Amino acid sequence: MQKWVLMATAQTPTNIAVIKYWGKRNEDLILAINDSISVTLDPAHLCTTTTVAVSPTFDQDRMWLNGKEISLLGGRYQNCLREIRSRATDLEDEKQGIKITKKEWEKLHVHIASHNNFPTAAGLASSAAGFACLVYSLAKLMNVKEDQGALSAIARQGSGSACRSLYGGFVKWVMGKEENGSDSIAVQLADEKHWDDLVIVIAVVSSRQKETSSTSGMRDTVETSMLIQHRAKEVVPKRIIQMEDAIKKHDFAAFADLTCADSNQFHAVCLDTYPPIFYMNDTSHKIISCVEKWNRSAGTPQVAYTFDAGPNAVLIARNRKTAAELLQRLLFHFPPNSDTDLNSYVIGDKSILQD
Ligand code: PMV
Repeated sequence: MQKWVLMATAQTPTNIAVIKYWGKRNEDLILAINDSISVTLDPAHLCTTTTVAVSPTFDQDRMWLNGKEISLLGGRYQNCLREIRSRATDLEDEKQGIKITKKEWEKLHVHIASHNNFPTAAGLASSAAGFACLVYSLAKLMNVKEDQGALSAIARQGSGSACRSLYGGFVKWVMGKEENGSDSIAVQLADEKHWDDLVIVIAVVSSRQKETSSTSGMRDTVETSMLIQHRAKEVVPKRIIQMEDAIKKHDFAAFADLTCADSNQFHAVCLDTYPPIFYMNDTSHKIISCVEKWNRSAGTPQVAYTFDAGPNAVLIARNRKTAAELLQRLLFHFPPNSDTDLNSYVIGDKSILQD
């Protein structure tokens, strides 16, 4: 048997939704019931690094996440692997003298090693960075010639929010209309340079894994909440238009109001689910109160907050000066070793520590 190994590595940042996706209309294809908008973080801070390898000596597909082997049998992994393999093209590596034809890719197995530089499954969108990176690195290895929109539709089948991590800056996941999901893709609204005054601070309230996965949470919500129907049909479509406008005009007040309101409605929908889902904890609520008080006393929003499926706060400050003040306020209200379990601050996007 020939003994060569061919590898590719990619690094993909996580993204944080400012208009949230919650609820699927098709669980297998992962098709959302509403559009969503997110901001992609700087890869230097929260990201996944994935190396994929192919060799004729591998007898099965295998994957390791943060050094531990995980099963690839789940439908999400299988969907991504199948979709990428079906788009593989002929490859020639002159240095190693390797030639792989489109047909041969179907029979070759891959080994995948993935690493997150932040807590996994703790509501910090680890699956978004993870599946985006998996799809991107496999596409690189298998010489896939599709554009980023098509790759985003494949990453979406691993984890909905993953489709948005294939672009930097502000990204919209268009829910699409087609039953086969072909138009359910991510599009970039503005690149990472467009609004680079913003500073993203992540307050890690808890790095424990969440109790309710987003998959089962969304399923329960769609089956039992009446509020979700109102949100998806009446509220989000208007907010998407307003958010796109706020981003275009760098209108921080509108951006912050919409971001906070949408996070609050998402958690209200979770509470309206049966059985109710609690992603935030007392520390999360205290952070919301601090920011709300500060924004009210300043007369115009200084910081926006948003929480995904976990208690960790994502705080978006209007500029570096505000971010520095935010860190001081967080340290004042949540000193290390206080009775709350707020233990670290991760600075995303542009680091204020560079000043
Ligand atoms: O893509 P999933 O299954 O991890 O779901 C993500 C859901 C939220 O993070 C709460 C919202 C979003 O749009 O990212």
